[in-house]
Amino acid sequence: MTRAAVFTAIGEPLEIRDDIEVEAPHAGEVKVRMVASGVCHSDLSMQNGTMMAAPPMVLGHEGAGIVEEIGEGVTTVKPGDRVVISWVPQCGECYFCTRGQGYLCERAGVAMASGGMLDGTTRFTSHGEPLRQMASSGTFSELSVVPEIGVVKIGEDVDMKIAALIGCGVLTGVGAAMNTADIKPGDTVAVIGCGGVGLNVIQGARIKGAGEIIAVDMMETKLQMAKQFGATQTVNASQGDPVSAVMAATGQRGADVAFEVIGLQATIDQAVTMTRRGGETVLVGVPKMDAMLNVMAFFGVILASKTIKGCWYGSSNVHQDVPKLIELYKKGDLKLDELVSRTIQLDDVNEAFEAMGTGEVARSVIAY
Ligand code: APR
Ligand code: ZN
Ligand code: ZN
Repeated sequence: MTRAAVFTAIGEPLEIRDDIEVEAPHAGEVKVRMVASGVCHSDLSMQNGTMMAAPPMVLGHEGAGIVEEIGEGVTTVKPGDRVVISWVPQCGECYFCTRGQGYLCERAGVAMASGGMLDGTTRFTSHGEPLRQMASSGTFSELSVVPEIGVVKIGEDVDMKIAALIGCGVLTGVGAAMNTADIKPGDTVAVIGCGGVGLNVIQGARIKGAGEIIAVDMMETKLQMAKQFGATQTVNASQGDPVSAVMAATGQRGADVAFEVIGLQATIDQAVTMTRRGGETVLVGVPKMDAMLNVMAFFGVILASKTIKGCWYGSSNVHQDVPKLIELYKKGDLKLDELVSRTIQLDDVNEAFEAMGTGEVARSVIAY
């Protein structure tokens, strides 16, 4: 039995249930006792219908825990190992993984689409019906079964709340700046959206040697946090047009690289517009499924020679990038403790969704 936060219908608060059956891990799977889980905007996007999900489903995809049981054939981890959950399982062997694009792993597709394991079946049962789990993770649960290729073993010396955040916000945000984008030393970078992911884009840009980092948000509290993470200028989008502000700050040229880290049609348009000729726009935030890119093929892309890049999971190859991020943290280059604004209980997850809306937190982290 486990206790978990279950998404039951769009717009409904997550339901805390404590009578959920968890099957033993099948071959190639591991059962993990969660120690911490961040509450990410994508969890809210599942609950409010922005992203497609079929309830009932255990949400949560930014977690870390301890392996409790392993299925047949599992060799890379054993009971007692501490692991970060990767919400894109990465096999290391498929077409994409062997080309350094583990974030597009072929094995992850079925799990992502079905809300189950790699074969599409589920391991949770509740109220007599199967329960799906978000992105083969389901970290809003004391216990979860995940694919072996969806865990990355870490050492004893990393705090588990930090490890959890690495699993999504840090991999995605820092990866967007360090892997997806091509930031050159001295570049002017604009980051629209300074939440848990955007703050990590900012620190990734700082590590890559960006000259100016212009942070854009509607909340003054977020802009203050952005400065702490490396922003050199801030723009409060509630007080005027952020595109004009970025143009003014760059001699009307535009940013060398502009990131959208919210997932709104309006801010996606802003990011493309504030990118200079020959520059890059990197789209990180997940918008509504019917959002479109509004850009004129000739004036917007060809004549302007702009590159528009999609960023999925920070273009991360988790088996290499998780240890790399931990090293950067230990060296003091990555601020991760500062991301944990609140430590909460599983029961408080709906309040954590509200806190996201009011701009109070970089991240709320559930401690089990
Ligand atoms: N203009 C500027 N900033 C805005 C606007 C806007 N119109 N609307 C919202 N914001 C800011 C919020 O104030 C907040 O600081 O965007 C930030 C979003 O942060 P979070 O809610 O913490 O979201 P986060 O977890 O960082 O995720 C951002 O990345 O992974 C995806 O699905 C995720 O699409 C989401 C995005
Ligand atoms: Zn996330
Ligand atoms: Zn693969």
